[in-house]
Amino acid sequence: MTTPTIELKPSSSPLSAAEREAILANPGFGRHFTDHMVTIRWTEGRGWHDAQLVPYGPLSLDPATNVLHYAQEIFEGLKAYRRPDGSVATFRPDANARRFQASAHRLGMPELPVETFVEACDVLVRHDEAWVPAHGGEDSLYLRPFMIATEVGLGVRPANEYLFVVIASPAGPYFPGGVKPVSIWASEDRVRAVPGGVGDAKTGGNYAASLLAQAEAAAKGCDQVCYLDAVEHKWVEELGGMNLYFVYGNKIVTPTLTGSLLAGITRDSLLKVAGDLGYESEEARVSIDQWQADTENGTLTEVFACGTAAVITPVGTVKSARGEWQQSGGEPGEVTMKLRDALLAIQTGKADDVHGWMHEL
Ligand code: PLP
Ligand code: COI
Repeated sequence: MTTPTIELKPSSSPLSAAEREAILANPGFGRHFTDHMVTIRWTEGRGWHDAQLVPYGPLSLDPATNVLHYAQEIFEGLKAYRRPDGSVATFRPDANARRFQASAHRLGMPELPVETFVEACDVLVRHDEAWVPAHGGEDSLYLRPFMIATEVGLGVRPANEYLFVVIASPAGPYFPGGVKPVSIWASEDRVRAVPGGVGDAKTGGNYAASLLAQAEAAAKGCDQVCYLDAVEHKWVEELGGMNLYFVYGNKIVTPTLTGSLLAGITRDSLLKVAGDLGYESEEARVSIDQWQADTENGTLTEVFACGTAAVITPVGTVKSARGEWQQSGGEPGEVTMKLRDALLAIQTGKADDVHGWMHEL
């Protein structure tokens, strides 16, 4: 498969430097978008074609476009960071590219070559480099590659046309309020994904299916939903947009990849960063009963969530039908913060990239 060359059609009216700086002063999460986007089309029999960098703007879709009805869609999330010397690098874009291929396969979509995915991200970040927040804080440029089925028609089958797009958004913390522990509703009735389903694909339907549970959690005063397995309703899987880690003294444990949770790239990276810091790490099944019991008997010392948008976010309060409990006195735990600092130091270029994760532009 050859990588199409990305044709450059830059915007003739990008935002002024003053307008951009005003946004970068307080970007929030996913509220503002940069001046450009990259689009690549795929057509059956022709493959990938018409790769372009164009001004950011609306997509025009026929009302009968397949994705609007049957949700054949996948997406990714990765970040570009400003380093101390002013240069910019993305974190593990090849890993996102491979997961995008796996999601495409599961959704019956064409697989974008890894080098095309990475090149599309590079071209966008290079053109909109001024949108990458300054080094020093935790802000970054969040990249959102996605692909939709664009065939027009109401037949239910894999489409014969697709559109791949990368957009970029300057990003502050996903949870407002800095490193404040989040509260979790452990849902024993609503499930996110089933064995054999699409839980390990990054596809919009998983998130659509999580919204009612998320609203119910919010009504109970919780920030996030923790999903349990769909068969026994007892094994902890993940949050709606983050993986989970349990800290047992100097060992960190994350739920095993069962096929119904996302193989997070932050999750994978932390298995390695834990080793760098001298912690043990393990992938294991953890039940909601064990979570509660081990918190109460003091062996489970901290819990945190992790993901590209959320970075590492401590879990403070857990509520479930069986009761409510607190992790590490509702404060960010020591191991959580050490892992967070170590990972962010690699991502922002403050620490050596010992694992070869940073992709320089
Ligand atoms: N789980 C879900 C459902 C997610 O949406 C995400 C976010 O991408 C994650 C876990 C964490 O994955 P990553 O660390 O690759 O961002
Ligand atoms: C990410 O972390 O990149 C995600 O896609 C999760 C979403 C909650 C923003």
